Amino acid sequence: MTAHAQELRQIAQKMVATGKGILAADESSGTIKKRFDSINTESSEQNRRDYREFLFRTTHAMKNHISGVILFDETLRQKAADGTSLCQVICDTGAIPGIKVDTGAKDLADSPGEKITEGLDGLRERFAEYHELGARFAKWRAVINIGPGIPTQHCLNANAHALARYAALAQEAGIVPIVEPEVIMDGDHDIDRCFDVTSAALKALFNALEEQNVMLEGVILKPNMVLSGSTCAVQASDEEIAEKTIQCFKENVPSAIPGIVFLSGGQSDKQATSRLNAMNKIADLPWKLSFSYGRALQAAPLKAWCGKVENVNSAQSAFAHRARMNGLAACGNWESSMETSS
Ligand code: 13P
Repeated sequence: MTAHAQELRQIAQKMVATGKGILAADESSGTIKKRFDSINTESSEQNRRDYREFLFRTTHAMKNHISGVILFDETLRQKAADGTSLCQVICDTGAIPGIKVDTGAKDLADSPGEKITEGLDGLRERFAEYHELGARFAKWRAVINIGPGIPTQHCLNANAHALARYAALAQEAGIVPIVEPEVIMDGDHDIDRCFDVTSAALKALFNALEEQNVMLEGVILKPNMVLSGSTCAVQASDEEIAEKTIQCFKENVPSAIPGIVFLSGGQSDKQATSRLNAMNKIADLPWKLSFSYGRALQAAPLKAWCGKVENVNSAQSAFAHRARMNGLAACGNWESSMETSS
């Protein structure tokens, strides 16, 4: 059992405080370049810093709706324009800084179409440094593709094993692991196939976490919602998505897990909000259900900003609006009519 049990429990509870969720701002250099390309903005170190700084300085939204921010290595080391570390800027709002520690998904050996996430080598030492720099939680993402004959059980087990080894090292360092087994929504599969794959991925994950002696009260789960494949002819309604997602998690996620924070995974901003809200309208859930959105929180501010300093205020308003909508959805109190008032 980890020496940091009490501390880990407290951090995890704070990450899923009522009405709050996580801002995933941990885009790797390649991904943030793609995001900046979409608004014709150069992905320079200063632009990345300026963009993230104005998000973290959206004070009201950060204080009220954001419990933690996942950062990329570069951002954890960066200073704001006034010399304050970005990590401190986040702490000043009351949110917790976190760090993405995996080094990406690579092809799984001899398994076409399947991925395995790397990053375990040297991770104990990296965790020690990240703790020193101020990170109190971490993220590791496994990528599970659906296709003919995939995922294989071998792929699910290999990714679950890596997630569990990472989680054990995080807890040893006093850092709460977010475990993210992402079943990708691309494909023409129906929602029931996504249910079965998500269920199998969660079973493999919780078996592996138990094998590696990970303390579940100090873990946050970051999963996909149970959805129809993005090119499936029949798209499930938000209500069906909510029911099937809750059923899947009730069957597979121990109640010792303090919270589940969903990824948005390519859903539109409003879909991500509306579906989270529909889930939180279902009573008697053993865990908090909230968000850890990247695109669904940032698409609107990115578009409003367009890399121009004169647009920062409207970009901050766009971010504040999405943060508030998702904060309400995390309590089941969102209504679609609220979307017109941004
Ligand atoms: P999206 O919400 O854009 O899927 O990003 C969340 C994330 O952190 C994926 O690892």
